[in-house]
Amino acid sequence: MNNIDCAKQKIRAVIAGSRVPEDPRHADNTVEWLLRLDPDADQALQLAALAHDIDRADDVRKIKRADFDDYDAFKSAHARNGAEILRPILIACGVAGNIVDEACRLVLVHEVGGDPSSDLLKDADSISYFDVNLSLYYQREGWAETKRRSLWGYRRLSARARKIVENINYGEEAMSRMLHEIIYDKSAE
Ligand SMILES: [Fe+2]
Repeated sequence: MNNIDCAKQKIRAVIAGSRVPEDPRHADNTVEWLLRLDPDADQALQLAALAHDIDRADDVRKIKRADFDDYDAFKSAHARNGAEILRPILIACGVAGNIVDEACRLVLVHEVGGDPSSDLLKDADSISYFDVNLSLYYQREGWAETKRRSLWGYRRLSARARKIVENINYGEEAMSRMLHEIIYDKSAE
């Protein structure tokens, strides 16, 4: 097995242990969206897409929402912890140093973006939330929290990614209504 496949296998094994039921599907789905947005996305980006939420799978080191008043502060601690968990996994598989550094940098900034690669990752992550997480998030968190989370996710999408999200067809009427409310929420403009 090559170094990159070793790393992907280890990352998937860690995420398979997450208590958040949507995590394994979201990890692979974020890679799928990344490759749809940019079929030439490099290995560092693909590793970062797969591992960006790895923090949530580590029950001991996991960053807890309840410890933060501010959602953005929570998300930034989540991203930093994810990069710290990812680095030794990549090193153990013998991934080249420049790919290790770039993959960890991308995980660190995946919630905020700021350069073409991390903006792509942020879009792929946010589209995937709407594609595969929304319904399970709603079942667990209820309408008000899901609406808040979705509005936050929608606002961070690029114009191109918004068009993709706006065309998602949900089987559930409640999720279609949620998306409609998010798109037409005046405060999102
Ligand atoms: Fe994510």
